[in-house]
Amino acid sequence: MSPTLQQAPEMQSSPLHKQYEKASDTYLTNNVLDLFSLSNRVIAITGGAQGIGLALAFACAEAGAKVALIDAKAEPHKDFHILEKQCAQLGMYQSDVTDFDRLSNTFDEILRDFGRLDGCITAAGICPDEPFLSRKPDSVRRCFDINVLGTYFTAQLAAKHMIQSSPSSIDTANGSIVMIGSVAAHQASIAQFLSDYCSSKGAVVSLAKELAVELADSGIRVNVISPGYTRTDLTAVLAKTRPSLANIFSSEPPMRRIGDRTDLKGAALYLLSSASAYMTGGELLITGGLHAGRKL
Ligand SMILES: NC(=O)c1ccc[n+]([C@@H]2O[C@H](COP(=O)([O-])OP(=O)(O)OC[C@H]3O[C@@H](n4cnc5c(N)ncnc54)[C@H](O)[C@@H]3O)[C@@H](O)[C@H]2O)c1
Repeated sequence: MSPTLQQAPEMQSSPLHKQYEKASDTYLTNNVLDLFSLSNRVIAITGGAQGIGLALAFACAEAGAKVALIDAKAEPHKDFHILEKQCAQLGMYQSDVTDFDRLSNTFDEILRDFGRLDGCITAAGICPDEPFLSRKPDSVRRCFDINVLGTYFTAQLAAKHMIQSSPSSIDTANGSIVMIGSVAAHQASIAQFLSDYCSSKGAVVSLAKELAVELADSGIRVNVISPGYTRTDLTAVLAKTRPSLANIFSSEPPMRRIGDRTDLKGAALYLLSSASAYMTGGELLITGGLHAGRKL
């Protein structure tokens, strides 16, 4: 008899083997619609006053979550008032993701108001567009401050609060962090000058992988949604000032259209919910195929 087979009875009573046996048939009782529910979960979203952050707040609210929006802006987009009517509990917190102490106070305030934290989306970001050789240090630094350090600080504060909150869901995870990256983490833009933006989003994708490993023992999953061109106030301004860009946004993706924020809602729900309980350190590229190749 081989040494492996001789060890088999002993291995069958080990905790790992018992865990294996228990896990084998949970699909019979876990209804897929329940897996996607965010009922009673509290989700914080930076950059939530408008754009992608606000659209993803609708996704969370529609799935039953309570939502805390964090943004530098004092006044959210008018659609916030539609969300108010749909959301089990909604809060808007003016803060700055680059200011650790202020952001820390904001998370404390959210915990006081909502009592717990289960998920966090880091959508605050800026996208400067200026040739590399003429970039000024302060402007580059600001992009990294918001896109990289802002994401870092937010994830750190969110993780600490998630660990303090007891598990609320059918899986035993303490929380899920979803970072908004970009297709720009993977490829240069042919029409814009995005040296700091591309590298800042590359840092976000790397950060998610590192945190996925570091935070796994704490039951916190970390993943990235990387959109391609997506219609928001950010791209609307660009399209107005440089109409040629509007054409590129629609013609470059193999699917021949610019992304809509609706295209991101399902991905956010998947990553925040128990439906993705075994996914961490991953990235969903939602680009109309742009990350695979550009159409001429
Ligand atoms: N729109 C796109 O085509 C696209 C594509 C890929 C990735 N993204 C990323 O998605 C995220 C959201 O982009 P968007 O298009 O919704 O932009 P947006 O400008 O509409 O929204 C960004 C929000 O972040 C907030 N913000 C900026 N600096 C902040 C700070 N220091 N503290 C707190 N809040 C701050 C802004 O006030 C704003 O409400 C960004 O990270 C962006 O890089 C956007």
